[in-house]
Amino acid sequence: MRKTLIAGNWKMNGSQAAIDQLLSSLKASLPERDNVDWAVFPPSTYIAQAQSMLEGSRIAWGGQNVCEHPEGAYTGEVSASMLVDFGCKYVIIGHSERRHIYNETNEQIAEKIVIAVEAGLTPVICVGETQAQFESEMTREVIRTQLDAVINHPEGKEAISRSVIAYEPVWAIGTGLTATPELAQDVHIRIRSYISENVGKKVADSMQILYGGSVKPDNATNLLAQPDIDGCLVGGASLDPTKFIGIGKCKN
Ligand code: PGA
Repeated sequence: MRKTLIAGNWKMNGSQAAIDQLLSSLKASLPERDNVDWAVFPPSTYIAQAQSMLEGSRIAWGGQNVCEHPEGAYTGEVSASMLVDFGCKYVIIGHSERRHIYNETNEQIAEKIVIAVEAGLTPVICVGETQAQFESEMTREVIRTQLDAVINHPEGKEAISRSVIAYEPVWAIGTGLTATPELAQDVHIRIRSYISENVGKKVADSMQILYGGSVKPDNATNLLAQPDIDGCLVGGASLDPTKFIGIGKCKN
């Protein structure tokens, strides 16, 4: 049985004061137990604050990005070992904003995934098609190409078997549009089958595949009811503790 993961991608939002408030209220309102894994992804300058506030709680934390190199002259970058040093469990890799605004390539993303796993992190690998690709029915092909870059890396199969995948249709991110639960389920089952054929059935069966793109408490119930949707990667709504926790409650 795969556990549900509810992950909050804060993107480039927050301040020490705002994060103090958000994390305090998350900790205070989170049910003592449920069947959900919880994680938040603060901007890198606030990871230390998340660590000091969340240590010993049920909420894990992670980075929003990582450098594909282990250390050295890479001004502005953050390494996988630095994330581990601050207690991160997860790291988001290949978010569409990294792919499209910062032109990260599939190959670079594959390197990041491998180096993150080697450091002991669990990558949350984001895949998904743009609006134009969706309209020209290229979803399947785009996602296969994104996954192939990882699978074909010499260490990629091992790395992907230790990762979480997030399907995030780019046209649904921050737009208020969501894929219907049926459409998302269809893509998720295709991702699982592709992993099964190319990496292994055991890996595919246990892999958490999250949906992301305008997830809110009022659309999460139907998404989380789908057999191959194992959680959500939440952007905007994760900045509101009531909404974020409300999304996790939709699973029960
Ligand atoms: P959104 O973002 O929930 O604001 O659409 C999701 C994401 O980018 O991970």
